[in-house]
Amino acid sequence: MATAAAHQAAGTPAAHATSDAIGTASGPDSGPDSGTAAYQAAFDTAVAAEERIEPRDWMPDAYRATLVRQIAQHAHSEIIGMQPEANWITRAPSLRRKAILMAKVQDEAGHGLYLYSAAETLGTGRDELLDKLHSGRQKYSSIFNYPTLTWADVGAIGWLVDGAAITNQVPLCRCSYGPYARAMVRICKEESFHQRQGYELLLALSRGTDAQHAMAQDAVDRWWWPSLMMFGPPDDESSHSAQSMEWKIKRHSNDELRQRFVDICVPQAESLGLALPDPDLRWNEERGHHDFGAIDWTEFWEVLKGNGPCNEQRITQRRRAHDEGAWVREAAAAHAAKHSGASGKATA
Ligand SMILES: [Fe+2]
Ligand SMILES: [Fe+2]
Repeated sequence: MATAAAHQAAGTPAAHATSDAIGTASGPDSGPDSGTAAYQAAFDTAVAAEERIEPRDWMPDAYRATLVRQIAQHAHSEIIGMQPEANWITRAPSLRRKAILMAKVQDEAGHGLYLYSAAETLGTGRDELLDKLHSGRQKYSSIFNYPTLTWADVGAIGWLVDGAAITNQVPLCRCSYGPYARAMVRICKEESFHQRQGYELLLALSRGTDAQHAMAQDAVDRWWWPSLMMFGPPDDESSHSAQSMEWKIKRHSNDELRQRFVDICVPQAESLGLALPDPDLRWNEERGHHDFGAIDWTEFWEVLKGNGPCNEQRITQRRRAHDEGAWVREAAAAHAAKHSGASGKATA
């Protein structure tokens, strides 16, 4: 939030600098350009002082556009991410596992809702964002274009995919945009449960029969490298990173977060009794981090372009779910209209 101090520093009233207030600023510098410059200065001061920018505060157009793009991609990933795991709900090996998996998949739907709501505070409606997802104009995380071939994949996704998501998302709890940062606090708590359930599931399989252990190892072999790709391209190829760090939307670079994730996973894999599929993985005493092998970025870009194993299936299923849910949205809208009509009459 841009506070009184920030506004005073910019020579504007000690109130929220709302977008519609642009151009109404008066004083020796008045005029459209200098007014915007004053608001820009207030924004910069607030960001530098680690204050939150709130929906009604003035913000640069590019900051708003970057947030909408990032939050939308994040929201889309949450709801598309329900598919690979939901694939196993009916085949969970016990009632306990089924209940846990259902709760987890339902959490992901909730994450999508918090995030679409956060995007709405920036003036972009959910319909518009879903339309962009369905028409391929906005992306979701490439990791969800891989198939879940065995029950162990549910464990590997929880441990590695949710684990990578947490590593990425914990710093977002300090993001400069208030609604996004607050949504992330709750999401990270739930992701932490997801990561632990995956770890516990893999541990049970790893300590089970030889066939179960092999199934767990196979899942980790398939999910390890795509999980490392979740942090995005290397820093020198990441187009949005520098500006996002300046705006304090992003706090750490892709490579920093990837390294942190590898360092966290190595001892966990040892405790699980499972190997990470990288012959170059070793502790580097000098750096105080694990070195790891080269990532196949060709695969990453191919999957991103739509050529992954499940891209077509995921988006087709998403469009179908949206179409099949049309009657629910219509009924909810009709109910809301009736309800507001009734309360309108009651108070008339
Ligand atoms: Fe999630
Ligand atoms: Fe999750």
